[in-house]
Amino acid sequence: MGVTPWEVSGNIDYEKLIKEFGTSGITPALRARVERNAGESNVMLRRGYFFSHRDLDLVMDDYEKGRGFYLYTGRGPSGPMHIGHLIPLVFTRWLQERFKVNLYIEITDDEKFLCRREEGWEDIGKHAEQNIRDIAAVGFDPDRTFIFRDSEYIGNVYPMLLKIAKKVNFSTVKAVFGFTNETNIGFIFYPAYQIMPTLFEKKRCLIPAAIDQDPYWRVQRDIAESLGHQKTAAIHSKFLSPLQGAEGKMSSSVRESAIWLDDDEKTVRKKIMKYAFSGGRSTLEEHRRLGADLSVDVPFQWLSVLFEPDDVELKRIAGEYGSGRMLTGEVKEILAGKVNEFLEGHRARREKADVKKYMRTGKLAKEMWNKRFE
Ligand code: TYM
Repeated sequence: MGVTPWEVSGNIDYEKLIKEFGTSGITPALRARVERNAGESNVMLRRGYFFSHRDLDLVMDDYEKGRGFYLYTGRGPSGPMHIGHLIPLVFTRWLQERFKVNLYIEITDDEKFLCRREEGWEDIGKHAEQNIRDIAAVGFDPDRTFIFRDSEYIGNVYPMLLKIAKKVNFSTVKAVFGFTNETNIGFIFYPAYQIMPTLFEKKRCLIPAAIDQDPYWRVQRDIAESLGHQKTAAIHSKFLSPLQGAEGKMSSSVRESAIWLDDDEKTVRKKIMKYAFSGGRSTLEEHRRLGADLSVDVPFQWLSVLFEPDDVELKRIAGEYGSGRMLTGEVKEILAGKVNEFLEGHRARREKADVKKYMRTGKLAKEMWNKRFE
């Protein structure tokens, strides 16, 4: 098993990751506290898709005592986005809506330019534009959200980036990110920028993301206090598995491994029918006798994570499918319908998304362009 910000491979043992990364599992009591403060239950918390955290209990203390907190997340524009990339953002929107807090979304055009040998600056720019539209479509609060591209916002943060960079030495990033003598120097500097938004406010920062991004937060937590800031908190999700099976994460280079936000209805259906790894048995007789193995079944996992929020209906599907009364084709059909419904809504919101408000003219965006961090 390997999990770094750039690569996820093998069969992922999430309990082991918690130990290796030194994070904490989300206990039922902590989940109940978040949901009580939020005023409603959340499907991704309830089903354990967000499974790990750092200092989420302190974030809840801050909220309950009226000190508040803020949210930060991001996207590296390496190509079009798939449905897995959207998931932390959908969860982030829920947090923002329920807790009424500011949100910063970093678009790391610099990171992707530096780490992808084959992509030129123009390609990255195109991906960034397209990705920002998809992100805006998620429907964040336009006055409490700031979306920025690293290359455009650099003038407002450069002195502070230098302060961060001065605190982190090469041996640390070598150990944390696996940098070598062949790594280009731009990339070696880049972690300073991913840390920067955790210092945007004096309030505590909470970062919703999949657990692959956690190494950055580890470095942040070592240096934040020496810069007069708080250690960042984080809430980590699992990965939405590739269609082909529960190993690794969906890959940008294998188009069939994921559902892309621009896949049309027919493509979505075809991909799920053809590629989604099934826990169903190889013959009908065996399937009726043994039932499907839900633990490896990708369509069932996707339904559990997000696409079937109704607990009663999910339980019904689990019962029918797990006992062999329901067939793989039927479960795939249910999933294809749900995914298409979701994407249809996404496309409509994408058409209407007011990107400029998030980046320039909304209340928080305006404030941020008038600020200089040093
Ligand atoms: P990126 O673009 O690789 O990923 C964007 C977000 O999607 C999560 N993610 C996934 N979640 C579920 N299932 C998957 N298969 C899957 N693949 C990726 C990532 O964890 C991330 O939350 N360096 C970052 C950009 C960044 C960032 C941040 C991300 C800058 N600041 C703060 C999160 C929080 C990157 O390249 O993400």
